[in-house]
Amino acid sequence: MVKIFPDIESLNLFAAEKFVAIAEEAIRQNGRCAVALAGGSTPKALYRLLSSGKFKDEIQWSKTFFFFGDERNVLAVDAESNFRMGRENLFAPLGIADENIFRWQTELRDAPLIAADYEHKIVKFFDLDAESSATEGSGRSFPRFDLILLGMGADGHTASLFPFSEALGEKKKIAAPNRVEKLNATRLTLTAPALNAASNIIFLVAGADKAETLRDVLEGEFWPEHLPSQMIQPKNGDLFWLVDDRAAANLSR
Ligand code: 6PG
Repeated sequence: MVKIFPDIESLNLFAAEKFVAIAEEAIRQNGRCAVALAGGSTPKALYRLLSSGKFKDEIQWSKTFFFFGDERNVLAVDAESNFRMGRENLFAPLGIADENIFRWQTELRDAPLIAADYEHKIVKFFDLDAESSATEGSGRSFPRFDLILLGMGADGHTASLFPFSEALGEKKKIAAPNRVEKLNATRLTLTAPALNAASNIIFLVAGADKAETLRDVLEGEFWPEHLPSQMIQPKNGDLFWLVDDRAAANLSR
């Protein structure tokens, strides 16, 4: 479903209300809610809205558990860290307990080790069968996040699944390192199958610089290696594209 908003404020209000509804339902059904947050800059205002007066008392935060869809391979205190952005705009204002936050342990420094450690955390949290998850060709069990928030880069990437990058082809792992030549960096990301196992996925896309790519992703040729955001098709879940007018300018609405 694609919903177009006149401005980022109305987009974030809708996103916050959706977040509350999903969290309430998950906690009612399972006693907890597992959310994977998006990094970058777009979600900052949403996180601040969720931790503000209007929403901060609407969710049982003690029953809400936070993960990250991707991370930069920098220390948690680094200005580039998605965890740091989440902590400053959401966790600290809400007083979220450390045990409710699962960040990529980038202090381990070695990207494959960081990814393996994060995968282990997820397997444990979701009580996935590590055996079946490790067995080639088995009915691999992926985590079913109640909600995954994603952004989209102007190049069509999402999380840290960048065009023509190696992790795009990852079908077994939950978490993987991903070399991004154009950034001259190795990123850390949940894989497409891990993302697509979610109950709900919400893309937050705003700004004129995303308009051409958004049209290509939503209405153009299916070419996921070039436009990784096209890989995001939840197998058994709901997908929401929340976009502002500027990003939607090229859509044939
Ligand atoms: C990251 C994000 C990334 C982001 C897009 C959009 O680590 O940067 O996970 O996928 O969502 O690059 O970023 P903006 O919201 O800043 O445009």
